[in-house]
Amino acid sequence: MLDYKAVLAHYPTAVPRYTSYPTAPHFQEGVGEKVFSDLIANLTDDEPVSIYIHIPYCDKLCWFCGCNTRHTLKYAPVARYLNYLIREIELLGEKLSFRPKVQQIHLGGGSPSLLKSEDFVRLRQALDDVFEFLAKSEVSVEIDPSDVSDDMLEGIKAFGVTRASIGVQDFHPDVQKAINRPQGFELTRDVVASLRALGIRSINIDALYGLPRQSYARLMDTISKCISLKPDRMALFGYAHVPWVKKHQNMINQDDLPDSNARFEHALAASQMLISEGYGAIGIDHFAKPDDSLAVAARNGRIHRNFQGYTTDECHTLIALGGSSIGRTKNGFYQNLVATSSYQDQIENDEFACGKGLFLTEDDKVRAHIIERIMCDFKFDFSQLDLNAKSVESYRQIAVDFIADDPFKLAKLEGDMFEILPEGRAFTRIIASQFDAYLNQATFKYSKAV
Ligand SMILES: C[S@@+](CC[C@H](N)C(=O)[O-])C[C@H]1O[C@@H](n2cnc3c(N)ncnc32)[C@H](O)[C@@H]1O
Ligand code: SF4
Repeated sequence: MLDYKAVLAHYPTAVPRYTSYPTAPHFQEGVGEKVFSDLIANLTDDEPVSIYIHIPYCDKLCWFCGCNTRHTLKYAPVARYLNYLIREIELLGEKLSFRPKVQQIHLGGGSPSLLKSEDFVRLRQALDDVFEFLAKSEVSVEIDPSDVSDDMLEGIKAFGVTRASIGVQDFHPDVQKAINRPQGFELTRDVVASLRALGIRSINIDALYGLPRQSYARLMDTISKCISLKPDRMALFGYAHVPWVKKHQNMINQDDLPDSNARFEHALAASQMLISEGYGAIGIDHFAKPDDSLAVAARNGRIHRNFQGYTTDECHTLIALGGSSIGRTKNGFYQNLVATSSYQDQIENDEFACGKGLFLTEDDKVRAHIIERIMCDFKFDFSQLDLNAKSVESYRQIAVDFIADDPFKLAKLEGDMFEILPEGRAFTRIIASQFDAYLNQATFKYSKAV
């Protein structure tokens, strides 16, 4: 039996979640615009794209929140923001001589669920003017259940939503009080029923471990209540406590947080409960019913990792819309200006709002591929690298060195196949970080890996 406490004590546990490589803290000022120009220049009318739209508003502020959002009790700033978002889409349309095909579109936040139906309708109209949605395109939206109203349901229907992701976090009132997120089970159950009645067949629920005042029993009760709602997918994220970045997390009493060992035990037990109830484990923190498209893709080694977590999205191009959104091309990343006011000022001047970005070096591309496959499949076959033998060996050597130095036997290397062993999977982020060339130069402090 693996002594996980010793593993946690041995390795530096503050490592990235690798939703991208290199990670966002390494993006550089002034590069975003160049990556975005490269994206526009390389769009073709036969290769579909994905779109991410960010809505940085919430009508309450949860103290655990690590997302880029701001609190508003009035709707006027949200409606105004929509005007800028629509103008950004028009500006994009003015640059194009054809309508790019859209494979997947994700509305995230913040809380896109606070949009009024009229705004969902005009946003969809603006998108339809510039893009062509494929018949099988996937349209997903993040929903805070406490926002849901008949008007909002009408809006997401008009927008063509096919997949909904709803936030639960934890159902225990004491935990909810500690994170400022009151949310009854009955409300959540009714929202799930309303979404299904609307014809939305695919529902994901987000839950968190590592929250203040969360105990083993409270988390197990939350997971069992989530399972009773029969979601198609579940995400079980570890709470990232980064008060040095998110000041409102200082509202959380540090002494109420479970320690690393408790986090590990809670995550393991919650994951075992999901697996025993028929969910397949996907990567480090997702679970899906065996017939869900994510589970099918995972079985075929075809899942990917992006800023939303694990995805079936195979598009090389991700167009980012809205403040702070991150887009991607084969050659790099770009991020729209993070402050909503700066984003809006740019669009007001009919200019795109790209801020930081990064062009991938050849070394970045190889490491990004290795890290993504490890995060998705827990293994990597070095013989698949399309490089000369000397270069392949230099990356393989990283695995050789890790295995030689690792006293816990978390992984094995047989020939060219590097594989994390089942007991080592909880430490996947730590193992993936061995291939991260930027880690030691990081000036940024990451959250806990487990
Ligand atoms: C944009 S939020 C969810 C949408 C919606 N606003 C809600 O709260 O229901 C996406 C998810 O990120 C996760 N999340 C937010 N802050 C986090 C943090 N500090 N650490 C880990 N996960 C976090 C939560 O599980 C949340 O449901
Ligand atoms: S968790 Fe969701 S509702 Fe809460 S502040 Fe963050 S984005 Fe808003």
